[in-house]
Amino acid sequence: MPEKITISVIKADIGGYVGHSSMHPDIIEDANKSLRQAEKSGMLIDFYVTACGDDLELIMTHRLGGDNEKIHKLAWETFEKGTEVAKKLKLYGAGQDLLSDSFSGNVKGMGPGVAEMEIIERTSEPILIFMADKTSPGAWNFPLYRMFADPFTTAGLIIDPKIHDGFKFEVLDVYENKFITLSCPEEMYDLLVFLGASNRYMVNKIFRKTDNEIGAVASTQKLFLIAGEYVGKDDPVMIVRSQSGFPAVGEVLEPFAFPHIVAGWMRGSHQGPLMPVSFKQANPTRFDGPTRVICAGFQLSDGKLIGPRDMFDDPSFDETRRKANEVADYFRRHGPFEPHRLPLEEMEYTTMPKVMKKLEGRFVQGKKA
Ligand code: F6R
Ligand code: MG
Ligand code: MG
Repeated sequence: MPEKITISVIKADIGGYVGHSSMHPDIIEDANKSLRQAEKSGMLIDFYVTACGDDLELIMTHRLGGDNEKIHKLAWETFEKGTEVAKKLKLYGAGQDLLSDSFSGNVKGMGPGVAEMEIIERTSEPILIFMADKTSPGAWNFPLYRMFADPFTTAGLIIDPKIHDGFKFEVLDVYENKFITLSCPEEMYDLLVFLGASNRYMVNKIFRKTDNEIGAVASTQKLFLIAGEYVGKDDPVMIVRSQSGFPAVGEVLEPFAFPHIVAGWMRGSHQGPLMPVSFKQANPTRFDGPTRVICAGFQLSDGKLIGPRDMFDDPSFDETRRKANEVADYFRRHGPFEPHRLPLEEMEYTTMPKVMKKLEGRFVQGKKA
């Protein structure tokens, strides 16, 4: 039996540098130290630590399967140690995403974002890891649909016999905590009813229809639902397998050439474009944005992460970034008005209850004309 390899991507905002814009190098160094130890002990096969904006991203490979207590504990303790560094430097919002004082077996529901995939490595296994800052996991709906269901993006859906049968989408209703699986192309219109409402329904996993092989996994934690109050945007991650029976690398990246509108940006309460950038450009500063996405490409080799390649560090995305800036300007001109500002129920900050209470006696009943 060929051995199974698990790719775990676990992330958290444990303190920003400066404000919510970026990650201090000492935190990255500290995380590298923790994960290097775990690699030496044999728990991890390999790892890569990076940041997108103010989020610390731990990319790990191992043989322990998804939802493994040891791996989640390792991530949690790495975040705790990083929080100590953040506190010492008085970085902004130290420990922001660690919503519990003690670890209880799995980081899900405790603040950090998680995407994990257990696979039997193919002869060659190109994987793409996407990480975003200043948005929520609903931001992945549009690109995932375009990669795995839209033949105008993925030519392979039409001309590659290995994927011509299509893919199945597992969609999570984050408000009800319920899943539904819909199959494409035959249930495409039903699927889009849900995916278009990306603040509530989020793609969790995608499977190839012919053999149920996993193609993509996204983090679907919604911090504000977990915490019941504002604790920052969830800043999602996702893992996508590519080539030979999955969308090609270029088909996976193509949807990001359109800077679609996502929720997040300033105070997690605005809409604006998703800008694909190189690693070094992932430090959102203008109005705390616009929202960024980076992509780290790896070839897996017996669980070793060969890479990363900085996939958006390519002039073919220059025009997208220019367009994203133009769209950002246009949205900014709306100031506090929708659709730039999110609808009331989606905002992560609001003064509405207080304002309403203060002014409640001044509302007068409207009279029929
Ligand atoms: C958005 C985000 C930032 C902060 C903003 C205010 O996800 O993290 O835009 O919301 O900088 O931060 P506080 O409330 O910490 O002053
Ligand atoms: Mg932050
Ligand atoms: Mg962040």
